[in-house]
Amino acid sequence: MSHRGRTRSPSGPSALAWALWTLSIGLSVGQQCPLPAVPLNSRVSLSSSTPGVGATATYSCDDGYELFGSISLPCVQQGSRAVWQGDLPFCGTNVAYRKPANQSSSMRGGAAPNAVDGDKEVIHDGKRCTETGREPSPWWRVDLLREYPVRAVRLTSRGCCGHQLLQDLEIRVGNSSDLQRNPLCAWYPGTIDEGTTKIFTCARPIVGRHVAVQMVGVEGSLSLCEVEVFTTDEFSNERCVPSGVVQEGSESAVFSRTCYEFHTTKGASYEQARASCRRVPGGDLLHAPGTAHNGFVLSELERRKPKLKTQLVWLGATRDPGYTSRTWRWVNGEAVGKPVWGKDQPNNYNGEQNCVVLDGGRGWQWNDVGCNLDYLHWVCQHQPAACGSPDRNLNTSIAGGDHVVGKSITYSCPEGHMLVGNATRECLNTGFWSGVAPTCKYVDCGSIKAPEHGSVQMLSGRTTHGALAEVTCESNYTLKGDAKKKCGDEGVWSGEEPQCLFAWCPEPPEVAGGRVEMTGRKAGSTATYKCQAGFILLGEAVLTCGLGGTWSGRAPECRFVDCGAPANTFHGRVELLNATTTAGSVARYECEADYWLEGDSIITCGLDGKWSAHTPSCELITCEEPEVPNGGFVIGYDFNVHSRIEYHCEPGHLLRGEPTRECNSNGEWSSRAPSCQYVDCGKFSPVPYGSVKLLNDTTYVNSEVEFSCVRNYRLSGGQAHRVCQEDGSWSGSTPRCEEIRCPEPVLAEHAILSVTGNDRAYGRTLIRTAAESNANSAATYKISAQAKYRCERGYRLIGEGLRTCEESGIWSGGVPQCECKYKNQE
Ligand SMILES: *[C@@H]1O[C@H](CO)[C@@H](O)[C@H](O)[C@H]1NC(C)=O
Ligand SMILES: *[C@@H]1O[C@H](CO)[C@@H](O)[C@H](O)[C@H]1NC(C)=O
Ligand SMILES: *[C@@H]1O[C@H](CO)[C@@H](O)[C@H](O)[C@H]1NC(C)=O
Ligand SMILES: *[C@@H]1O[C@H](CO)[C@@H](O)[C@H](O)[C@H]1NC(C)=O
Ligand SMILES: *[C@@H]1O[C@H](CO)[C@@H](O)[C@H](O)[C@H]1NC(C)=O
Ligand SMILES: *[C@@H]1O[C@H](CO)[C@@H](O)[C@H](O)[C@H]1NC(C)=O
Ligand SMILES: *[C@@H]1O[C@H](CO)[C@@H](O)[C@H](O)[C@H]1NC(C)=O
Repeated sequence: MSHRGRTRSPSGPSALAWALWTLSIGLSVGQQCPLPAVPLNSRVSLSSSTPGVGATATYSCDDGYELFGSISLPCVQQGSRAVWQGDLPFCGTNVAYRKPANQSSSMRGGAAPNAVDGDKEVIHDGKRCTETGREPSPWWRVDLLREYPVRAVRLTSRGCCGHQLLQDLEIRVGNSSDLQRNPLCAWYPGTIDEGTTKIFTCARPIVGRHVAVQMVGVEGSLSLCEVEVFTTDEFSNERCVPSGVVQEGSESAVFSRTCYEFHTTKGASYEQARASCRRVPGGDLLHAPGTAHNGFVLSELERRKPKLKTQLVWLGATRDPGYTSRTWRWVNGEAVGKPVWGKDQPNNYNGEQNCVVLDGGRGWQWNDVGCNLDYLHWVCQHQPAACGSPDRNLNTSIAGGDHVVGKSITYSCPEGHMLVGNATRECLNTGFWSGVAPTCKYVDCGSIKAPEHGSVQMLSGRTTHGALAEVTCESNYTLKGDAKKKCGDEGVWSGEEPQCLFAWCPEPPEVAGGRVEMTGRKAGSTATYKCQAGFILLGEAVLTCGLGGTWSGRAPECRFVDCGAPANTFHGRVELLNATTTAGSVARYECEADYWLEGDSIITCGLDGKWSAHTPSCELITCEEPEVPNGGFVIGYDFNVHSRIEYHCEPGHLLRGEPTRECNSNGEWSSRAPSCQYVDCGKFSPVPYGSVKLLNDTTYVNSEVEFSCVRNYRLSGGQAHRVCQEDGSWSGSTPRCEEIRCPEPVLAEHAILSVTGNDRAYGRTLIRTAAESNANSAATYKISAQAKYRCERGYRLIGEGLRTCEESGIWSGGVPQCECKYKNQE
């Protein structure tokens, strides 16, 4: 394949070579032919890789296609150019083979299908050719079963011996079964010799389903040994069996861009048949036929019918599972739209007929059968695995040689040409390429006029499509527009028309109180102004050097600004942080100890010559009025810094926390405010034979109580005086009131005692001897009980004989003694 897409560069070692090439083109204009066009399903070979005048382009077709037209074209000089001379041939495939045929009448075994049986033998032998009776304008016709663009029809006439010659032929192609209504593909007024083959090419492709041959205005018999109808719009049977091996016992056929395999010599069950189909990638049992496909398959089955062992042929559809299901589904998962049931079908005999066949006994309509019947014929279908050789227009070349379904090829044009259309085409699963082949258009943008003060470099050394150029300007000139240029589709250079504009700016203007810094003086350079201390900048600080050599805008102004000394404040002082009072200077205020600042401590001198805020004041630090706890009060009237206050609690309350606080220099009171806690020890329950006296009439903390007993009783245990303590309990413990009683009176020796009590227990008079009395000392006696003493016989009482139990619990007087009256006698 010739390669003209060389890249050329005006510089470097190849510059000379390029110059020589340009020179040679100039001297012998158009000496080389462009890349030739190639029709679909065809390949070209050139006699030279750089085909000059005299070279040839020779075409050959893919397997299964035949070439019509000139097999090779010469490269010839035409005016100033070299061109391929002649019409492009085409590669077509025969679509009439085994299609249904008919004729005006049939004689002597000359049935109409004999002309499409693939047998070109010219000796009729009673079965090889067609033959009509003698009649006016006899005709023969084939039904292609779908519309094809018909390019050519090839007739083979009958040979020996003496049958009427073919003459005054009209070949018509169209959609009507009434042949006279269809347009004429070709006509032939003369006679055709016996046993010859003649090609009739339609002046232009005619799209039609029926092709008819008629001897017009002749009374005679029409006999044809073979009729072939060629189109480029179908792929060849060879593409269906890429390996070239047809499965044993099957026959392959192409119709409407689909491959079919007829298995009509053997028998198989549904599953076996399906497995046989699926051995081809993407293959499966016959399914989802459109009307045309259906017609083709039925016509093929009908043609084979006499030789079939059974007239039942599996269809790739099954009944959905479920006893009552009435839905049938194709093997590709789609539901069957409208099943074509034969008479009395479906009957689902025994409830197990879940497969379906085309039934020759029922005019090839549907019949449901059991899937296990293993003697049925079947038909497979699949899509081809590859596309044919792609077509190419003049000057185009193709990258990517993979013609497998799903792969893409990319077209390109020679240098200086623009590609019109889509550069990529994909091999579709129909076996055809997507879209249409693109074309090339020669585009020349012409030279670029250099702008004033500028020049143009042709980077690609040419001015045709895709060429690059660059525009540059003299020094002190700047380019406006696009520097990089490309020759585009419309034959114009891309981008804005370039201009070279003067661009050298003068020194930027000076500004009083300021200075300027420049990045340069060319276009795009900047001048940046800065003001001295105390000066502020008014206006734009940055000027840009523009095209035409002028600075943008106006230079700014530097203005002096001073705010003067900031005001003093009582109890405070002010500090100038920058030691200046000009714009941007900062002053800071501070207060004496114990004073704080109200207002802003920092003020700034503004551009308006004023300080940013009012003069702040220094105020004596004070604390807020202190909080007073419940049950308490505060003594202290001055809340200024360092002042002290005292907290006190009401009676009954205890102070918890610090009793004194001081106002600190942060304006806060020291410590936390104390609290007053009320403490109450509670009341007493009554004391038997006694009473409690609240000395302060209260029971809260520090209150005092006193206990006392009724007459003849006295306190015992506990404390008579108790105080309410801080923990809420009374001190000590509660005393009891105990009756005052006298003990058993003491008896002297030889004395006798009688006690008269007023008790219930001792309310009688007891007489006791000393021994008894001293032994039983547990007895006691109420106050005012009386004890009378006597002495035994012979003894006289010394002391008071009557004792009374007194309020002190003691018998009055002393213990009387008994003295022997005869003491001295002893
Ligand atoms: C074939 O042609 C004959 C004669 O014109 C006609 O009667 C017959 O119906 C045709 N058959 C078909 C299938 O078209
Ligand atoms: C036949 O039908 C096709 C599709 O409808 C149409 O494109 C074509 O032009 C028809 N052919 C003729 C000869 O009218
Ligand atoms: C060109 O064709 C490819 C393959 O068919 C397709 O994917 C793509 O979208 C097309 N591009 C344009 C611009 O039409
Ligand atoms: C093909 O290329 C040749 C040489 O560049 C040019 O003269 C001619 O116009 C081109 N033809 C087409 C159809 O692009
Ligand atoms: C052009 O530019 C050069 C510096 O590159 C400068 O010295 C010269 O003055 C410029 N010429 C004019 C005319 O401004
Ligand atoms: C003054 O001093 C402050 C703090 O140091 C600084 O931020 C400010 O820019 C100075 N102002 C001038 C005018 O120098
Ligand atoms: C209670 O009364 C007593 C006697 O009058 C007195 O000494 C004491 O201070 C009083 N206590 C309180 C808390 O008033």
